[in-house]
Amino acid sequence: MRQRILHVIGARPNYMKTAPVMAEMSRRPAEFEQLLVHTGQHYDFEMSEFFFRDLDMRIPDRLLNVGSGSHAEQTAHIMLAFEPVVREWRPDWVVVVGDVNSTVASALVCAKLGVRVAHVEAGLRSRDRTMPEEINRLVTDQLADLLLTPSRDADANLHREGVDQAKIEFVGNVMIDTLVQHLDKARARPIVSRMGLKAAGYALVTLHRPSNVDDPGALREVVEGLCLIAGSLPVVFPVHPRTRKNIDEDTLSPLSGRVTLLDPLGYLDFISLLDSARLVITDSGGLQEESTYLGVPCLTVRPNTERPITITCGTNRLVPRERDALVAAASLAAEEPRASRAVPELWDGSAALRVVRAIAGRALPWKHSC
Ligand code: UD1
Repeated sequence: MRQRILHVIGARPNYMKTAPVMAEMSRRPAEFEQLLVHTGQHYDFEMSEFFFRDLDMRIPDRLLNVGSGSHAEQTAHIMLAFEPVVREWRPDWVVVVGDVNSTVASALVCAKLGVRVAHVEAGLRSRDRTMPEEINRLVTDQLADLLLTPSRDADANLHREGVDQAKIEFVGNVMIDTLVQHLDKARARPIVSRMGLKAAGYALVTLHRPSNVDDPGALREVVEGLCLIAGSLPVVFPVHPRTRKNIDEDTLSPLSGRVTLLDPLGYLDFISLLDSARLVITDSGGLQEESTYLGVPCLTVRPNTERPITITCGTNRLVPRERDALVAAASLAAEEPRASRAVPELWDGSAALRVVRAIAGRALPWKHSC
């Protein structure tokens, strides 16, 4: 029986998770027919199109063009635009990834229509409900029919919440599949030398969490820390649109001239910069994982993480959002010899294959109510 699989993407961190799953299903055309829907949550060129090219991903079949708004507006607009697509295309499974508003909105539509949802990257928990992503993770996992987890702590979280083990499959990390597949191409990019940087001779920074960048006081603390770090180690900072909107002239002036500010980068250039960095300073989820895989020391400017395995097994450390703490942690990390690389279980480049097998193994006849 050929299954109809609808994949939902909306924001930048979704693309590298969906790409390997779609590629794996494309190898089995007798089993799967696929539709790729982009909600339009991210709409800037640097946040989207670059990635499709870099990841050899097909252009989405449907674009919902929802754009920005408050959480309620964005979630509601995605639901309104997505429901007719599901009704018309009648998928056997809808595959959602990660924890963005597009993930929870599409899962909710499917749950109401009686369409099965597979959640890739299920079970991660920061236990911090002030993070919009934590709410998205909790709700999506309650609604999903198949929970595909990246690490064993995620399975334990789901068990604690009473999720039936029959719905859970530990598949590993699909984002690492994309990294493994594109690493050689990324390493061949000239961006590091073109920027006049030396391998292991700079810090790479990304910041976009509302808790860090929407509060001017918090942002100033981090910016001041970056300026001090830049006194001894070059700092490269591709700036997310949310952060760009919040960095006014006052915040920006100490940064300019000392920290290299860039527009958001494509996937390959970004991985190239990450791979050669001395350390990374971030509040991103994905970067904690990618730096762990590559063995690059990572300072996460957050009080918690939904990815504790990157601390227990990998290179990640949590740092408070305070100037002096950040500077001290950076100088310590920059001086330490690079730790030998430890890669978490099943972060092996074959997670997408396990995702596809899990879905193929559940090819039950399904009665749609939509
Ligand atoms: C979203 C995700 C976050 C993810 C991040 C990766 C949610 C709740 N958050 O956060 O988990 O880590 O994407 O980038 O889903 N903007 C642009 N151009 C764009 C996209 C956004 O200018 O292409 C602006 C928006 O107008 C808005 C701000 O950036 O003002 C935030 O965008 P939004 O998608 O709401 O959330 P992110 O902060 O990007």
